[in-house]
Formats: sequence, C-alpha cells, structure tokens
Amino acid sequence: MTANMPPPTLSAAQAPLIDPFARAIDYLRVSVTDRCDFRCLYCMSENMTFLPKAELLTLEELDRLCSAFVTLGVKKLRITGGEPLVRRGIMTFFERMARHLQSGALRELTLTTNGSQLRKYAADLAALGVRRINVSLDTLDADKFAQVTRWGRLDQVLDGIAAAKEAGLRVKINAVALKGFNEDELFTLVDWCAAQDHDLTFIEVMPMGDLGNEDRLDQYWPLSALRARLAERFTLVDLAERSGGPARYVQLTQSGQKIGFITPLTHNFCESCNRVRLTCTGELYMCLGQEDMADLRAPMRASPDDVLLQDAIRAAIARKPKGHDFDYSRQNVAGQMTRHMSHTGG
Ligand code: GTP
Ligand code: 5AD
Ligand code: SF4
Repeated sequence: MTANMPPPTLSAAQAPLIDPFARAIDYLRVSVTDRCDFRCLYCMSENMTFLPKAELLTLEELDRLCSAFVTLGVKKLRITGGEPLVRRGIMTFFERMARHLQSGALRELTLTTNGSQLRKYAADLAALGVRRINVSLDTLDADKFAQVTRWGRLDQVLDGIAAAKEAGLRVKINAVALKGFNEDELFTLVDWCAAQDHDLTFIEVMPMGDLGNEDRLDQYWPLSALRARLAERFTLVDLAERSGGPARYVQLTQSGQKIGFITPLTHNFCESCNRVRLTCTGELYMCLGQEDMADLRAPMRASPDDVLLQDAIRAAIARKPKGHDFDYSRQNVAGQMTRHMSHTGG
C-alpha cells in the first residue's frame, strides 16, 4: 500500500453489529415456533393460545432473515421455540442453515430442545453439522417430570438424549433450579450427568409469562445457595472458559465434570450480552427481559433485496438496552415480563 492510500474500510454491509454499550452482537437465537408438546409450569400456562399458523414466517423467510444476520457478522445461531423440532419441515430449515457452516460464515449451528423429538431427528442434525445441543431436563423422577412439564414423558426424553449421544452430539442438560422441587435431586442430576458424560447447567427461574396464581418467589432457588450445597460434596474450581452464552462454568475436582450457572437474578451477566432474539413472526427482541422489539417482517417483505432489512436490523441493534430488570430481592417480583418464554425462546 502506498503512503497516501486510505486504509481499507469495511463497507456498511460488512461492519459488525455493535450496540450502544460497545457489545458486539454475534449470537442470534431464533424461535421457529411458539408451539410445544409440553407445558412447563415456569414457561407456559396450561391453556396457551398459540399464533394462527398463517402468522408464522415461512421457512424461506426465516432463512432470509437468519442469512441477513449472518451477513452482518452473526457467528452463532441457536434454534429454539417453543419446541423447535415440532415445527413442520424444520429439517429443511437446518439444511439451509448448514450452508453457512459449510462456507465458514457461521461458527456454530445449534438448538435448545425439550428432547422429545430427538430420536427422530438427532442423526440428521449431526449430519448437517450440529455438534452440541442443549436439552431442558429439570428432574430424573418420572412423576415429577410429568408434573413440571404437565404433558411430558421422561422416558421419551431420556431416549431422545440417548439418540443424540448415539449420533455423536454433545449434550448439555439445562435444569431450572426450583426450590422444593429439584433441590433434593442436585446430586442425583450431577452424578447422572457425570455417568452419561453430559454437561450440566443450572438456570435461575425468571419471572416470565403471566404469573397468575403462581409464585416465582416461592419457586426461586438462588444458584448461590445451590453452589454452596454443591461445595459440601465437591471442590469447585472456577473456569475462565465460555460457551458464547451467559453461563459461567466450574469444574468439580473429584469428577472432572463441568457445571454451568446461568444467574440472571443473583449475578446479572448483561454487561457481556452478545445476543438478540428473533421470533417466528419476525419480531426482533433486543433483550429477553425488556418489551422493546423491532419488526423485521415488514422491511423484509417490502423489497426483494436486503437493504431495508439490514437497515432495520442495524436500527434495532442501536436501541439494544443495557439489560433486564428482573429482581426478587425486595421480597417481591420486579421486572416481570408478561411475555411467555416460548415467545422469545429463552
Ligand atoms: P450455550 O452457552 O451455547 O450452551 O447456550 P446458552 O446458555 O446461550 O443457551 P441456552 O439455550 O442453553 O440458554 C439457557 C437459558 O439461559 C435460556 O433458556 C434462558 O433461560 C437463559 N438465557 C440465555 N440467554 C439469556 C439472556 O440473554 N438473558 C437472560 N436473562 N437469560 C438468558
Ligand atoms: N426461567 C428460567 N428458565 C426458563 N426456561 C423456560 N422458562 C424459564 C423461566 N421462567 C428455560 C427452559 C429451557 C429454556 C428454553 O428456557 O428450561 O431450558
Ligand atoms: Fe416447551 Fe421448553 Fe417451554 Fe417446556 S420450557 S413448555 S419444553 S418450550
């Protein structure tokens, strides 16, 4: 380069997504359906009304939206729901997303699932380049599982997890810590994950959905307390490694296994937030714990090229809030979201 040549600059389309707090956004979570074959107590009400099917974006439109984010620098794509694997034709969508893995544009294509459909799909997912998946499982007791999921069957999920392992997928179990519900299973879950070689992450229950007669404060088991209980039996060594999500990990010296903690209540991790969430109707939520969202469907449909869409994505990222306001510390529930978790996909 000669001395008087300007340095190469990124074109507008290539400039990475940076929010007002200087956080680079390279992780997109996509809820491909609001439907689910379970009705977990902390996620849905028993009589959920789901979106009419006509309101859903088509899989082609979801492809277009996700691909626009990949063009804008998104490196990690997590497919969620509802339960993503109950959406009709979902493997076609994974096939389309796999091209971004093959081109190297995407570092990770993954999903969060309740596990019920894994026997059917695990091998196909692995063949398309999915390497690790997160499966929600709060208890290993069949009766308690039926109680917390209302509609789920434990044996079906365990069989799905086994199918994932057989297909070569790495499995991370996500367990929501629930006071008086799975407290007594802490070591059972930890030992089972060690024996099965699954990673394990605990999550603090968040005040999402219409709480009605439920009391999240009654359900809330802070992970600081869970961690102290764990330390009664194991030596916990904090790990610096990250999986690109909000979990912080420890290693148990005795078993060598890794345990993650997702602590939206006891330790707010928003300062390092790198993600936004797209719903199955094309709404972009810049934060799980705030109401603000941007409609991407209209700018996408308004034009066959992506100029308007990319502008809308950039404008949305420019309003990403600092963080959520969930708080149980004053003996009541603050920062509650009336939106159900299944709407934005956790
Ligand atoms: P990996 O780190 O890739 O394993 O995934 P992840 O933790 O990003 O994804 P996962 O789907 O396992 O997330 C587990 C749960 O953590 C979600 O369902 C949410 O309940 C919670 N969570 C994830 N991201 C956020 C976030 O940005 N804010 C809050 N408050 N909770 C989050
Ligand atoms: N608080 C914390 N985690 C939740 N999940 C669903 N609802 C809540 C909530 N209110 C978790 C599920 C699953 C993921 C999709 O979100 O357990 O792991
Ligand atoms: Fe379905 Fe997951 Fe919500 Fe349970 S937590 S109802 S499995 S989307």
